[in-house]
Amino acid sequence: MYHVAILANLKKNAPRRPGQPKDAWADLDSEHTIEALADVLRQTGHRVTFIEANADLPDKLREVRPDICFNIAEGHHGDSREAQVPALLELLQIPYTGSRVLTSAISLNKTVTKRIWKSFGLRTAPFQEFSHPDEPLAPDLNFPLFVKPAREGTGIGVGASSVVRNEHDLRAQAAHVIRTYEQPALVERFLAGRELTVGVIGNPPNQYVFPPIEVSINGDGGIYGFYAKSENVDAFSWRMPTLEPAFLAKLQKLVLDAHNAIGALDVSRVDVRCDEDDVPYLLEINTLPGLSPGFSDLAIAADAIGMGYPWLVTTILNLACQRFGLPAPEPVIPTSEAIQAAK
Ligand SMILES: Nc1ncnc2c1ncn2[C@@H]1O[C@H](COP(=O)(O)OP(=O)(O)O)[C@@H](O)[C@H]1O
Ligand SMILES: [Mg+2]
Repeated sequence: MYHVAILANLKKNAPRRPGQPKDAWADLDSEHTIEALADVLRQTGHRVTFIEANADLPDKLREVRPDICFNIAEGHHGDSREAQVPALLELLQIPYTGSRVLTSAISLNKTVTKRIWKSFGLRTAPFQEFSHPDEPLAPDLNFPLFVKPAREGTGIGVGASSVVRNEHDLRAQAAHVIRTYEQPALVERFLAGRELTVGVIGNPPNQYVFPPIEVSINGDGGIYGFYAKSENVDAFSWRMPTLEPAFLAKLQKLVLDAHNAIGALDVSRVDVRCDEDDVPYLLEINTLPGLSPGFSDLAIAADAIGMGYPWLVTTILNLACQRFGLPAPEPVIPTSEAIQAAK
């Protein structure tokens, strides 16, 4: 068994800046999640050390000398903050779970991700990135539109006011995003239909696409933003919809292709939203999906398929061990029946 270092950025230790928005650092982790991960890993026989992924991390890693890192660190600063820990671990040649440097940088950036998906012919809504609020609007973008920060997560900068119905509101919301979050605003077609989130686990050729979870938000314009993810979690509800087999197969293929297009490893969760005709579009991919037991969408999905949270956590670790040639139990990857049927 291994000495596993859990690397994360805790919400409670996040740097504070004067005037920062109330949703700053919403994507960071709670101690509860770290304890839950550590419990599972310890129960599987590993030795576990938690290390905060801050500027002391290089020194701490040399001191702790883990065999492998369970990485869920989103980082604090920079345009590719989720890629920093993978880069450091590659520099130090320490094995780690999840996606590598390039994929982690791509997936944080929703605009770049969408450009890649588009180049693969994967369905994602028409979009334009605004570095300045007064850029001319592309002719294929018709109102209503949706405005969000290009590289955040967990609903940061997202809510009812992200939906804009005229040019004035578009410019105002884009200016707000650019100024408040100090990054470009991604503007895309507003998708008026239902919302699905779909997990992927495994590595080629053994990948499993979870059954989609349909999420519904009561209030805040039905948007799964900061309000529903952090401020009022009771506004969130979910169900496992019964989907028509052909729709399910196409959706799961779209999600798997989206995961593989950016070279994601071990695990991800892809957010999808349908238009008014129930046609699904890729919104974004989370290569560090939330792992709060019983609460994060992927943990809910693992429970819903009867595999459970300990399976989710140990499988992520065992997949990474397998990739790095560290002896470990064979990861248990279920079969995606709908995908098999579609092949
Ligand atoms: N183009 C869109 N049309 C309608 N709703 C959207 C659109 N983009 C995002 N949303 C809503 O905002 C939420 C958060 O957006 P998302 O791109 O998943 O960012 P993140 O989860 O990283 O904050 C989505 O779950 C969805 O409810
Ligand atoms: Mg999302």
